[in-house]
Amino acid sequence: MLFPSCLALFVGASSAFVYNTFDGDGFPSCYNVTQVYEPTSVDDLVATVKKAIQSGTRIRAAGKGHQWYDTHCSDQETVIVRTEGVHGIYDFNLAPGAADGSVVVDSGVTFFQLAEYLHDRGASVGYTLTNWNISFGGSVAMGAHRSSIREHSMVAAGALALDIIDGQGTIRHIERDDSNDDWLAASTSLGLLGIIAKIKLKIYPDTKVYAKQETLEEKDVLDGDVYGLIAPYATANLWWWPYKRKFHHRYYDVVAADSTPQQGFQNTFSITALEATTARTMLDSGKYLPTSNMLAEEIFFGIWSKPNFREKTTNKAVDSWPVYGWNYDVLIGGLYPDQKPEWEYSLHGYTLELAFPVTMANQMLKRVRSLFDDELKKGIVMMSTYRSGINIKFGRAYYDLLGQGTYNTSDGADWTKGAIMFDFPSFRPNVGDHQRFNEPFYHKVANTLIDEFPCRPHWTKNSREVLTKAVKNLDPDHVRRFNEVRKKFDPNGVYRSVVGEILGLY
Ligand SMILES: Cc1cc2nc3c(=O)[nH]c(=O)nc-3n(C[C@H](O)[C@H](O)[C@H](O)COP(=O)(O)OP(=O)(O)OC[C@H]3O[C@@H](n4cnc5c(N)ncnc54)[C@H](O)[C@@H]3O)c2cc1C
Ligand SMILES: *[C@@H]1O[C@H](CO)[C@@H](O)[C@H](O)[C@H]1NC(C)=O
Ligand SMILES: *[C@@H]1O[C@H](CO)[C@@H](O)[C@H](O)[C@H]1NC(C)=O
Ligand SMILES: *[C@@H]1O[C@H](CO)[C@@H](O)[C@H](O)[C@H]1NC(C)=O
Repeated sequence: MLFPSCLALFVGASSAFVYNTFDGDGFPSCYNVTQVYEPTSVDDLVATVKKAIQSGTRIRAAGKGHQWYDTHCSDQETVIVRTEGVHGIYDFNLAPGAADGSVVVDSGVTFFQLAEYLHDRGASVGYTLTNWNISFGGSVAMGAHRSSIREHSMVAAGALALDIIDGQGTIRHIERDDSNDDWLAASTSLGLLGIIAKIKLKIYPDTKVYAKQETLEEKDVLDGDVYGLIAPYATANLWWWPYKRKFHHRYYDVVAADSTPQQGFQNTFSITALEATTARTMLDSGKYLPTSNMLAEEIFFGIWSKPNFREKTTNKAVDSWPVYGWNYDVLIGGLYPDQKPEWEYSLHGYTLELAFPVTMANQMLKRVRSLFDDELKKGIVMMSTYRSGINIKFGRAYYDLLGQGTYNTSDGADWTKGAIMFDFPSFRPNVGDHQRFNEPFYHKVANTLIDEFPCRPHWTKNSREVLTKAVKNLDPDHVRRFNEVRKKFDPNGVYRSVVGEILGLY
């Protein structure tokens, strides 16, 4: 079967499919899909889009499905155009001794495909990264990012030019230009201007980097200099263990390439079948028994304190910090050859991600702590049910219309120092109604933060409910300017999505 994750439904006379996220069956991204096309080149992509426009249905691109909620399409009939087969890489340009250069990728190219291509040529994309099996088109469209204050880490910040197939099926070439609203809208387009076909990316000479991690007491972070923990490094983040009342502080920076023979490779999502069964049993019982979740956080914390790295040349575990290796292998890495990603073992999650001005970091973290403590006062212990805790990321200020890290907005908050992202993944029980232990808590955290802070949503890590609530914190003038460009590119709303509807664009 070509699309094992598509479940056929019958809607009236015509048949429509449910299209799923990376989590597979039971995790819909689109409800009303009539066709899935798989073009194999940019020309084929353009021809496919033209054909679909003529048939009068809505169109959405699909990369690797690495999104969490049912916000991919609109609920009206939609055709999906997968970019997986559109993965050319060309025009590599990095002169010997130059500080930077460029390369052009088709939108279906993933981070690990490009990393391999560039490493072979002594180059890297720097820090504008997300995870391995995610397409550049999907990342740029949805404002995805890594974590850094010192360096640009939004994927779009690494783009020099974009080719977008608009609502008439015509390719529009847009060059980076902060004085042009076409560019500022295209930089975080949410797929609403059209399908990104090609991206010209900035590249750098490859480097070796180190990764180091320390454990901090919660109070030392909540009352401490959070900015100072992050800003000195090329990339850095925190992982919060609220039950343990501790943080992990992870940071990375460049070392001379000839200073170390080590070739560390980070494991981002791979686990063994035994680990998966143990975790799943514990976390499923945690739907009813908080003690199971406490134990889970204890165990996950212990595992996450050690390096999640292997030596690439021998496949042996690395057991002490710091770990050294090539840029991409250390910053992202991927799967270990003898393991599978956690979601292939029925370890699924819900998530929530909101960005705040980094100047409000202490205030935000303390507010979340007080929400945990409010539960404790009722006798309910809440904790992290994710294998790496609560992810606290950061973003250097980056100007565009709808990005999480933009500035100069009507909320009057100071976003110019950068953003702190509260990224709260939680285990989705495989049993019963799939609601989490003390489900209302998660909604209370989201609602409280949105109501009390000028925070902005990540565009693929929030439910419809959270996006709907969070829209009030966006600058209405940014939304209006975005929509002017959207109407020019896609006057008929061919690329319409639930996210665009929630933004009030149609
Ligand atoms: C395990 C995991 C780790 C992740 N890590 C991070 C992270 O570190 N940082 C972060 O910010 N995000 C992260 N994400 C979120 C991810 O970066 C985004 O959801 C991204 O949009 C997914 O891209 P995709 O290629 O999988 O596209 P899909 O999930 O298939 O599509 C996502 C959206 O992008 C649109 N889209 C896809 N391709 C195009 C295109 N060519 N043109 C126009 N629109 C397009 C789709 O229509 C859809 O609305 C992670 C997600 C997962 C599941
Ligand atoms: C990457 O995603 C695709 C789905 O588009 C999946 O088929 C493939 O197995 C994934 N690769 C890895 C290494 O998980
Ligand atoms: C699918 O879309 C059609 C129109 O495009 C609409 O009539 C129908 O109600 C939709 N079905 C679902 C399940 O949303
Ligand atoms: C910031 O906003 C002001 C007033 O709206 C505007 O004049 C200025 O150009 C903006 N700066 C940037 C970087 O867009």
